[in-house]
Order: sequence, then C-alpha cells, then structure tokens
Amino acid sequence: MEKSVKAVHRFARELRPAVLDDLGLIPALHAYSKSLTERKKLKIQMTAFGGVEALGTAKRTVLFRVAQEALTNVARHAHATQVKMSITEISGAIRMEINDNGKSFPVEKTLAANTNKRLGLVGMKERVEMVGGSLAIESKPGRGTTVRAEIPFKQERGKK
Ligand SMILES: Nc1ncnc2c1ncn2[C@@H]1O[C@H](COP(=O)(O)OP(=O)(O)OP(=O)(O)O)[C@@H](O)[C@H]1O
Ligand SMILES: [Mg+2]
Repeated sequence: MEKSVKAVHRFARELRPAVLDDLGLIPALHAYSKSLTERKKLKIQMTAFGGVEALGTAKRTVLFRVAQEALTNVARHAHATQVKMSITEISGAIRMEINDNGKSFPVEKTLAANTNKRLGLVGMKERVEMVGGSLAIESKPGRGTTVRAEIPFKQERGKK
C-alpha cells in the first residue's frame, strides 16, 4: 500500500512536460485518476474537451498540476465518495472543474490562515495566475468542494 502510494506520487512528481506531449493531458489525467481510484474508495468521473490538447505545454502542465493537487486534497481531506472532473471550452478560455461530494471547509478562513506549511491551494492559484488564468474554490456544506480553473485559450482558426 505504502509502496503503491509512493509510486503514484513518484509518477506525479516526476511528470515532465514531455509526458504530457507524448501522452496528452487527457490520457495523463485518466492515468492519474485511475491510480488514485485504485487506492482510495473514490469514483472519479471525467469529461474532457479534446481541444485542450492544443494548449501550450505550460498551460497543460498547470492544468495537470491543479487536477493533481485538487484530487490529492479530495483524497486526503474530503471523505468524499465521488469526484466529477470536467474540462470544457468557454468563451476565450478552457475551464477545468473538480467537484467532490465530501465535507466542505471554510475556504476564506483556510486561505487567510495559510502559512508556508500549507502550499496546496495557494500554489494552485499561483500556477494558474502565472499563465494568465484564474482559480476559484467554492465549498458548501452538503455540496462538497469545487475547484475551478480558467485558462485563456485562443482557438486558432483553420487549425485542425
Ligand atoms: N476538497 C477538500 N475537501 C475538504 N477540505 C479540503 C479540500 N481541499 C482542501 N481542504 C482543506 O483545506 C486545507 C488546505 O489545503 P491545502 O491543499 O492548501 O493544504 P494541505 O492539503 O493541508 O497541505 P499540502 O500543502 O500538502 O497541500 C486542507 O488542510 C483541508 O483542511
Ligand atoms: Mg493539499
């Protein structure tokens, strides 16, 4: 158990942009979700807009890292049984949402209390903002937590 958890973390830690290029973001997310599902009693449902692969490597890496941290948080803190993950195209941006059905937490209070010991949520926000995007976290009793990242995406005309 301990060993497999380490293996997942190693995979995630050692993820290089090349992996996202070779594999694609969506397959990489599927692989990461699968490895997590196998170790936790957690169902992860994912729907994804295939066009996300047209994002630059930096942006796809950010999306992978956000998903990784959000899912790790769900597994560690939420006591959830289900996660819904979606990647959609909205006007001028790609939106990724990760919603769990676990216990909620006071987001503002937690962020305000953040010391450098707690880097997850803050780090996530910083990564997203570094590529010109925005991150929102909503958490409500009975509704679990939703992490929403939006990253600028310009669809190139005529590009297949
Ligand atoms: N999906 C979630 N459900 C319930 N609580 C959450 C969730 N995500 C975060 N939290 C709460 O917010 C706190 C801060 O999260 P954050 O990711 O910043 O730190 P952490 O996971 O405790 O540590 P790390 O720095 O290793 O990520 C968590 O300790 C937890 O209490
Ligand atoms: Mg965390």
